[in-house]
Amino acid sequence: MYPGNLLNKKGTHKITMLTAYDYSMASILDQTDIDMILVGDSLGNVMLGHKDTIAVTLNDMIHHAKAVVKGAPNKVVIVDMPFMSISMGLERSLENVMNVMQSTGAHGVKIEGGKEHVELIKALGNAGVPVMGHLGLTPQSYLKLGGYKTQGNTQKSAEQIMNDAKALCDAGVFSIVLECVNEELSKAVTQEVSVPTIGIGSGPYTDGQVLVINDLIGLTTSKVPSFVKPKLDLAGEIKKAVNDFSKQVRGE
Ligand code: KIV
Repeated sequence: MYPGNLLNKKGTHKITMLTAYDYSMASILDQTDIDMILVGDSLGNVMLGHKDTIAVTLNDMIHHAKAVVKGAPNKVVIVDMPFMSISMGLERSLENVMNVMQSTGAHGVKIEGGKEHVELIKALGNAGVPVMGHLGLTPQSYLKLGGYKTQGNTQKSAEQIMNDAKALCDAGVFSIVLECVNEELSKAVTQEVSVPTIGIGSGPYTDGQVLVINDLIGLTTSKVPSFVKPKLDLAGEIKKAVNDFSKQVRGE
């Protein structure tokens, strides 16, 4: 599948996407029926131990995306454009996206934000780059948003998200992530736009769902968001295996 084929799936098949940040996890996901892999800038928190995604650099994204693309040759791989990499003028933004596409071999990029990126999305479309939008709780802007909280609860914020979704769609994105968007609003946006919406913490009415893989499989040792229902306790299994190994080696 290519990002461009995703449109055919709207309304016919719930789209699934998970994050991956390294070769080993990507190779496992490559052997599953997941539709897409996202090299999210959540790698800042998950892999690098940062407190937020603001510290993530373009080089961090490229480094991890290269490994994921190698590990998952059969999957669509989308790479997050990190903090401010698409906010310093059209030319610089295009260069940064070109750098990601050429050096990683990924199939597209995801950008956080709304109508301020319309010009860039059109230019990328003309250059043949598939773009995924990202609205709602956009973690790169959490300082401006006043923290990590559900978006679209006031009329003003709901209108802004709806208008941004339409603007992104008109500009040519192939799908839109809706993160922590009020459930009714995410349903309305999904009905309104012609491209698939992919939700995280936004209720069941989107065209697909995305999660951070570490949260899903119980590899996150800190608190996971309340909308995640982990399917495994891998951190617990790893601790057990490591303690068993130590006991065995020590003859205990
Ligand atoms: O960085 C990320 O992992 C993301 C998803 C949570 C959508 O943007």
